[in-house]
Amino acid sequence: MLTSQQILQEAKDLSGYMTGLRRDIHAHPELGRQETRTQALILRELAAMGIEARPCAGTGVLGVIRGGKAGRTIGLRADIDALPVQEETGLPFASQNPGVMHACGHDLHTASLLGAARLLAAHREELCGTVKLFFQPDEEGDGGAQRMVDEGCLENPHVDAVFGGHNSTGTQAGQYGLKYGPCYAASNSFTVTVRGKGCHGAYPGSGIDPIAVAAQIVVALQTLTSRRVYATDNVVVTVGAFHAGTAGNIIPAEAQFKGIIRTFGPEMRRRMCEMFRTLVEGVAASMGAEAEVCLVESYPGVVNHEGMSALAEQAMVKLVGRDNVLIQREPNMGTEDFGAFMNQLTIPGCYCDFGFGDGQRECRFPAHGCHYRANEEGLAYAAALFVQVCLDFFEAGDAL
Ligand code: NI
Repeated sequence: MLTSQQILQEAKDLSGYMTGLRRDIHAHPELGRQETRTQALILRELAAMGIEARPCAGTGVLGVIRGGKAGRTIGLRADIDALPVQEETGLPFASQNPGVMHACGHDLHTASLLGAARLLAAHREELCGTVKLFFQPDEEGDGGAQRMVDEGCLENPHVDAVFGGHNSTGTQAGQYGLKYGPCYAASNSFTVTVRGKGCHGAYPGSGIDPIAVAAQIVVALQTLTSRRVYATDNVVVTVGAFHAGTAGNIIPAEAQFKGIIRTFGPEMRRRMCEMFRTLVEGVAASMGAEAEVCLVESYPGVVNHEGMSALAEQAMVKLVGRDNVLIQREPNMGTEDFGAFMNQLTIPGCYCDFGFGDGQRECRFPAHGCHYRANEEGLAYAAALFVQVCLDFFEAGDAL
């Protein structure tokens, strides 16, 4: 079986291949649900490796590498979509699509998973299990991961664990970052419409003021995070828009506000949404008004599985040594749809950081910005980790 040294060496030998693909994808970025060129590129590369693959969730790709020996199945995920950003890096392989850029580095994810696939396919006979490749569309939009799950990517064969990661320029190439437990928050958005009774502003007694009611609700919502959960629970409720009225002397009939709820894990998510609804409707009713609550479930967030995280950490240590594995303490209140592949936490999964930094020289700009740049040396390390995690997962057998 491959040693960690061999894996890293073979991944480095594939650096030129991955860099070429990455630059090609970077020059031709596509927004979510429109990744047709990227999809064709992935299908072409997998076909050349002799890996069976098919389109999935519209513009995504599902690939399967069946090992020479029987065993369990692991899913590896890379998102493939770009962002509506006008690139300003001046790089020779900068975006040729005006207003679209791989500003979140999903081109790096795609290229490194293709590199990992090539490495795994070259050792197919030695593999004791099956590797599924999830090239997922539309991460930045409204959830390509869930659409792949809905199309059955977790079955036939059933996926026993999932693994993926995001590029980070705050972490150096040759390093990895890992957060045990809560990693990315689950996201819900809400719209609340408070209905009162409009009237002349001089005679509030003849109406019911929805602005006063909605304002009380917004204040009361602060107690959800400060009084109803523990300080360590990592919950956010934000009201980001509040609209009502047309003139200073008219009490309107309606007020509306919108916002987001961020939580970790399905149980806290359910509880917060329930408390939110109860509080909003209760405060409105207590003041003679009515509130219509519209709660929309967005991404489920990522809560890393303990055993799978430990396995990933060991894989990282084997490849780059203890000093280059950064264990993170704080979860990210941002969101990421990788969690959909963990299927309500019924499938053990781990999502980590792949180092793509260069010591803050060229690569010091934030993701989602027009100057974002990454250190391509990170490609080999990302690919090597995909491979090492697979092999270690197969070796662990039912122990995980
Ligand atoms: Ni991203």
